[in-house]
Amino acid sequence: MDSVWKRSHTCGELRKDHEGIEVILMGWVAKRRDLGGLVFIDLRDRFGITQVVLDPTKNPELKDKTKDIRNEFVLSIKGKVGGRPEGMVNKDMVTGAIEVQVQEIRIDNKCDVLPFAVSELSEASEHLRLKYRYLDLRRQVMKERIVARSKITSLVRRGLEELGFLDLETPYLYKSTPEGAREFLVPSRINTNKFYALPQSPQLFKQIYMISGFDRYYQIVKCFRDEDLRADRQPEFTQIDCEMSFVDESEVIATITAVTQSLVNEYKQKEVITEIPHMTFAQAMEEYGCDKPDTRFDLKLKDLSDLANTCDFKVFKDAVTSGGIVNAIVVKNAAEAYSRKKIDELTEIAKHHGSKGLAWLKKKPGAGIASWQSPISKFFDDEFVKSFEAKIELEPNDLVLFGAGAYETVKATLSALRNHLGAALELYDKDQLNFLWVTEFPLMEQDEETGKWSARHHPFCMPRAEDLALLDTDPKKVRAAAYDLVCNGYEIAGGSIRIHNPEIQAKVFATIGLTPEEAQKKFGFLLEALKFAAPPHGGIAFGLDRLVMLLTGCDAIRDVIAFPKTQKASCLLTEAPSPVPTNSLNELGIILAEPGEENV
Ligand code: AMO
Ligand code: AMP
Repeated sequence: MDSVWKRSHTCGELRKDHEGIEVILMGWVAKRRDLGGLVFIDLRDRFGITQVVLDPTKNPELKDKTKDIRNEFVLSIKGKVGGRPEGMVNKDMVTGAIEVQVQEIRIDNKCDVLPFAVSELSEASEHLRLKYRYLDLRRQVMKERIVARSKITSLVRRGLEELGFLDLETPYLYKSTPEGAREFLVPSRINTNKFYALPQSPQLFKQIYMISGFDRYYQIVKCFRDEDLRADRQPEFTQIDCEMSFVDESEVIATITAVTQSLVNEYKQKEVITEIPHMTFAQAMEEYGCDKPDTRFDLKLKDLSDLANTCDFKVFKDAVTSGGIVNAIVVKNAAEAYSRKKIDELTEIAKHHGSKGLAWLKKKPGAGIASWQSPISKFFDDEFVKSFEAKIELEPNDLVLFGAGAYETVKATLSALRNHLGAALELYDKDQLNFLWVTEFPLMEQDEETGKWSARHHPFCMPRAEDLALLDTDPKKVRAAAYDLVCNGYEIAGGSIRIHNPEIQAKVFATIGLTPEEAQKKFGFLLEALKFAAPPHGGIAFGLDRLVMLLTGCDAIRDVIAFPKTQKASCLLTEAPSPVPTNSLNELGIILAEPGEENV
């Protein structure tokens, strides 16, 4: 057994000032180079990389040991810090001014043949990276993201605790309560035929904390939703969940603005947020076609429904007469750059969002219909062109893309095209962070086919006071005291003021067609609690993964989650989900419809 070795410095710590001192470093071999007898090893830990030099000619004992050392072995080295010779200083490394001359070395662990190179340049497939996630996480870029996540979490905790929020827990084995997405169910062994659900969010418990008088709650908490995955969705994700008592909408927004501002500015070490602008849901839909607009660039949607009603183009006219809309986006100076092939690509995006096609026009110099290059120009005359061009201030070389049809389809299509064009034409600085509050969401939404109303956020959102009377007469018009925080086109947080009054709650349930018996069955415990004098309260929840993704400039939340699930909701590292033996199922009273051999 070697004598006691105690690490004196990390691999990211040594500088020119340390020259001459004796050190002990420990870490992984990131790279090894043999140069004419000298062996250079880049030793890596979470703090950085230090170059260590082994000279077997000076120290014969090192000779045997060095020949076996391969990438990713764990080493401890004792040595002396030396300045690198002039010209050998590596300006790209924080430790690049020094190297450590090794006197003694200890191989602490060997490494198997690696499935991929643990290197920033590695082109390993995502499948391999997830299967061997521990190796992937050794890479500097991944490590920085996970460390950033830890820093952001810590800043959030500090910010909220300074404002008097208490970190309080809620159960994970929860009651099945429909909240929007599909739930993950957990069978109960002790209570045969009964199930827990994993919480989609701690919504009802945090409200109950308010009823108990805890006043300000927060929790950084796992939430579970069995929904189709996307780049910004995981089945298991983390919320920064908050709730406050004796507040109205403006106070929640002001508090969360302050928390976000100090968090982001401190994390970025500069004043990124001076204020967070507000936009109503109606304006967001009108101008951006979605409730989470990316405000880093303009390219707004223009409503042409009135004008379209006066033309002879059937697609436009029919859209308006059947209660739909015609909208357009005008892409400045893009006509020449957009070939037929590129427009076909845009048409594919439009079709993907439910549009039947994508009418377009390229404005050439000159006036009248002759200056339009467009598959639909034959449907218009000079008079229409004149009023149309005046309405949207068309200029030569502009490209116009049209959406005609049902409101939802047109908005979704043009919003997707807008986001696509913003990125493709580089209409914004990638490092920019544009925060925005979206407010005045509709309380309800109506199913087109069945005509049934449902809560847009969840059924505990307070209607805005001025719209309360409309609940009976025109539910569509009722706006909720609900708000989302949006950043660069992502919804990073959402919340509302809650209903604390049993009569209003009963009315909302009635509007969404929940009978008192059904409401009792689904949310009985909350309704019961509300009878015992709930304070006025409201809150919000951030998607922590999305926040970290944006602050670290990543494109997908799985890049900032240490152990994410794949598109098929599986964990490649642990191979979850996995079959379980029939015995375990029997204990739970579960019989599989189609058991496989693996269930034996
Ligand atoms: P909501 O459902 O809007 O609100 O969720 C809050 C925030 O959580 C993030 N988020 C997700 N992140 C990753 N993967 C997912 N599958 C996923 N789903 C949601 C989003 C979203 O803004 N109880 C309410 C909050 C409240 O009213 O206080 C709730 O859960 O960033
Ligand atoms: P059509 O008359 O169907 O051949 O369509 C003429 C043009 O209008 C084509 O360029 C189509 O891509 C486009 N178009 C068709 N339906 C729509 C729609 N709902 N919104 C926008 N453009 C459309």
